[in-house]
Amino acid sequence: MAIDRRTPVAKRRARPRRGIALPAIPPYDRADREDTLPRRGSGLAHAEAKGMTRKRVAILISGRGSNMAALIEAAKEADYPAAIALVVSNRPEAAGLARAETAGIATAVVDHTIYGKDREAFERALQAVLEAHRIDLVCLAGFMRLLSPSMVERWHERMLNIHPALLPAFKGLDTHRRALAAGAKTHGATVHLVVADMDSGPIVLQEAVPVHQGDTVETLSARVLEIEHRIYPRALQLLAEGRVRVVDGRCLIDRQAGT
Ligand code: GRF
Repeated sequence: MAIDRRTPVAKRRARPRRGIALPAIPPYDRADREDTLPRRGSGLAHAEAKGMTRKRVAILISGRGSNMAALIEAAKEADYPAAIALVVSNRPEAAGLARAETAGIATAVVDHTIYGKDREAFERALQAVLEAHRIDLVCLAGFMRLLSPSMVERWHERMLNIHPALLPAFKGLDTHRRALAAGAKTHGATVHLVVADMDSGPIVLQEAVPVHQGDTVETLSARVLEIEHRIYPRALQLLAEGRVRVVDGRCLIDRQAGT
């Protein structure tokens, strides 16, 4: 089903006529052939041709999608253990969607505004898309919605997030400005498993950068973003290879020779 982005069906149907309650609206999917046709760029075609099994990954975004792009790039490697099967945005206008489409990745929009305050309905729609694409692992990459404990539990130890700070420092938003205001000498990024508490899950990987005198939010965030793009693909690789084990709320990484 090809749907014109400029006239999103879900949006059009979303405006209820006065006094009429509409049922929960299923998300629309711009690439529902993805399940049967491996798509260019996802890494699936290559893997299937070689008889490899890769974890099917969905990346959830809300904006520009630079981390998404880094994951897509990594998954192009022949021996990468995960394939990017789907990119989902909660915002129809997210710039990352076009980037994913250009890379030949299936995309879907589950527009949270349609569901108003009904977070469960939003998450049911999201879950339906993930199931339709037979997703094994989920990567949150600049996805600006908090997920409910039940959704998080469904993806227990199968959902990653990237946070632009050295957790547990600077949870939440606006991390670069807050790090500068605190006079932090070191800042960084963290990839962690998602748990019900925001930015609190077991840490898979993190890397630090120095904070220079005279840094601005722009210079510091650019330095951090560079390492985000390096550690996220690496963390996904570790998870997809089954090398991340959670013991007492902490991740133990099974290190292999040379890795
Ligand atoms: C990144 O800094 C990520 O750490 C944070 O949101 C930002 C998303 O950027 N969660 P992008 O959309 O991946 O470019």
